[in-house]
Amino acid sequence: MSSDLIAYSVHMEHRILGRTGLRVSLLSLGSGGARQLGQAIGMTQSGQTALVRRALDLGVNFIDTSAGYGESEAILGRALDGVPRDSYHLCTKWSPWENGVFGEDPQSLVDSVERSLARLGTDHVEVMMFHGPLAPEYRVIVDRFYPTMERLREQGKIRYIGLSVQYATEPSQGVVDLAIKSDANLWDVLMLKYGLLNQSVAKEVLPLAIKHGVGIMNMAAIRVKLPDPDLLQELMREWSDEGHIGQGELPSDDPLGWLVHDDVASVVAAGYKFAADHPAIATVITGTSNLDHLEENVAALSKPYLPANDTRRLKELFGDIVEYA
Ligand SMILES: NC(=O)c1ccc[n+]([C@@H]2O[C@H](COP(=O)([O-])OP(=O)(O)OC[C@H]3O[C@@H](n4cnc5c(N)ncnc54)[C@H](OP(=O)(O)O)[C@@H]3O)[C@@H](O)[C@H]2O)c1
Repeated sequence: MSSDLIAYSVHMEHRILGRTGLRVSLLSLGSGGARQLGQAIGMTQSGQTALVRRALDLGVNFIDTSAGYGESEAILGRALDGVPRDSYHLCTKWSPWENGVFGEDPQSLVDSVERSLARLGTDHVEVMMFHGPLAPEYRVIVDRFYPTMERLREQGKIRYIGLSVQYATEPSQGVVDLAIKSDANLWDVLMLKYGLLNQSVAKEVLPLAIKHGVGIMNMAAIRVKLPDPDLLQELMREWSDEGHIGQGELPSDDPLGWLVHDDVASVVAAGYKFAADHPAIATVITGTSNLDHLEENVAALSKPYLPANDTRRLKELFGDIVEYA
């Protein structure tokens, strides 16, 4: 389908981001991940601006970034120059880790927020997060740094407070489990990974998020296995060898090809749809740097669910697996 046809046939759903009350687009734009808004593949500012502007034209109103994503904040600041500030929401982040050292001084958070605001060309961000603390760091985050976040909120520099997981290091996402079970009142927003191959948070974290009004941003829902048929085949072979899925349960050459039918255009589209099909999820962040992919992803989420039989089978196949994928 040509990009024009896709553009005219899509509908962007909006959902409420938990207790923040922000009305966010179901697809949001990420500036981290493997692509970092195209920085990883040498995109120029004009290409990056075109990507951001196209996302806004397609109805995206929420953009995720971090002080730790190379030049992403500054690229976004330039791309968004002249766009009315009340037409989009921003989420940025800070990590106490710097050059391998876990910081002690909350002033680093204040300085980082000031730099983020200057780079983004704004006087506030809607959501400010602790970037990827691991479960063992959680208590220090709350005791040492959270009060500083509260002061930044009182000053109007940030509106809501959250944290994101570091999935690659902690595939169990134990930090959001701790956050939501011990201090749900502290966290307006959590950023986690819920995907077709990563369903573990559906057991407790997502229901608790609904109960406590915590907004959920869903990150990295398809990378890296779903867009890469070789990696996906290898993973399914591994999971079958380890007994996570039955031998011969899935075809070895195209293990998830059965998801592609009717209006599910690809395995990637199935991945984004699954990622959006939970009532706790307010937004799914796409990290694409490619205009055609962006339009495909918007189109995928214009119908954010798979046929019920396929969803059921995915839950039966992968629902109990807690492995890096
Ligand atoms: N700890 C954290 O706080 C944390 C961790 C991870 C991510 N995040 C945030 O979440 C965002 C999303 O995560 P992610 O970047 O991993 O996103 P993702 O959308 O799950 O994966 C992006 C990857 O998938 C590819 N892709 C996207 N759409 C595609 C399509 N239609 N067809 C084929 N390939 C496609 C992209 O390549 P192309 O560029 O070629 O499309 C890119 O390699 C990040 O950008 C970041 O803002 C936060």
